[in-house]
Amino acid sequence: MGRLTGKIAIVTGGGGLGIGHGISLELARDGAHVVVVELDVPAAEKICARIQAEGGKASFLQGDVSRAESIRAMIGKVIEEHGRLDVLVNNAGIGLIRPPADASEEEFDRLMSVDLRGVWLCCKCAIPQMQRQNSGSIINIASVHSRATMRNYGLYAAMKAGVAGLTRGIAAHYGKDGIRANTVSPGLVDSPQNHEIIAQFAPSVEGWMRNFVEQAQALPWLIQPQDVGRTVAFLASDDARSITGAEIPVDAGTWIRLPGEN
Ligand SMILES: NC(=O)c1ccc[n+]([C@@H]2O[C@H](COP(=O)([O-])OP(=O)(O)OC[C@H]3O[C@@H](n4cnc5c(N)ncnc54)[C@H](O)[C@@H]3O)[C@@H](O)[C@H]2O)c1
Repeated sequence: MGRLTGKIAIVTGGGGLGIGHGISLELARDGAHVVVVELDVPAAEKICARIQAEGGKASFLQGDVSRAESIRAMIGKVIEEHGRLDVLVNNAGIGLIRPPADASEEEFDRLMSVDLRGVWLCCKCAIPQMQRQNSGSIINIASVHSRATMRNYGLYAAMKAGVAGLTRGIAAHYGKDGIRANTVSPGLVDSPQNHEIIAQFAPSVEGWMRNFVEQAQALPWLIQPQDVGRTVAFLASDDARSITGAEIPVDAGTWIRLPGEN
């Protein structure tokens, strides 16, 4: 018996090759039935097949977190099929690497529609069912950019800071209904999509990552998607029954490291 046996968990963007994969796999390994909500159907099929091959429970729904009607339909379907919703992981997200003054209004609106408005809408649709159950765990994936950022990431940082604030607000308001809400903020994760991004500007992806680990982290290893997944599974479980409103960095010590040789 896993810690999440009998629980129904939605993971938005759960087909993503990096963190989405890590979260979906680890929730299923802990016993949850994972419902992957994805824009990308082949990606969703792939992670469900992997979970089922390991003996876990998974299904998927095609959904777009930037569209309210899509979210309402998706959450309604999960409740209709399973009769409950125990865990909501808002992982789906997009990035924007652009100086704040150079971004267009369209780029801002697109980023906000997925990274912040989408998180809020999924919470808004899931909370009434969690209130009926008098229980539920919401885990929102932000980023280390919620508190410290770098050039070109100002708008992404704004969205992720918004996610952390929203999560605290949900925790404060709905704790009385047995609902917990926490933020998980990953640092640089060793994922195929990050490799692709780094390959666009660095001659050696491995060399760039090794240098990042040495200069920016306290721990000397790359963060794996499963590291994020295991933290999410803990927060989803009753082992974290008295933890709410927290923002937990899975960043190998990026936030606490100042640059310097000593
Ligand atoms: N990769 C990192 O190093 C890193 C670090 C910190 C935070 N994050 C955050 O972690 C989350 C996952 O990031 P990732 O890098 O693994 O991303 P990813 O692009 O690999 O996966 C995201 C998934 O979300 C899906 N998706 C995108 N828009 C969607 C929408 N509108 N509706 C439904 N699904 C949608 C995509 O199809 C994709 O499968 C994001 O919120 C991201 O901001 C990532």
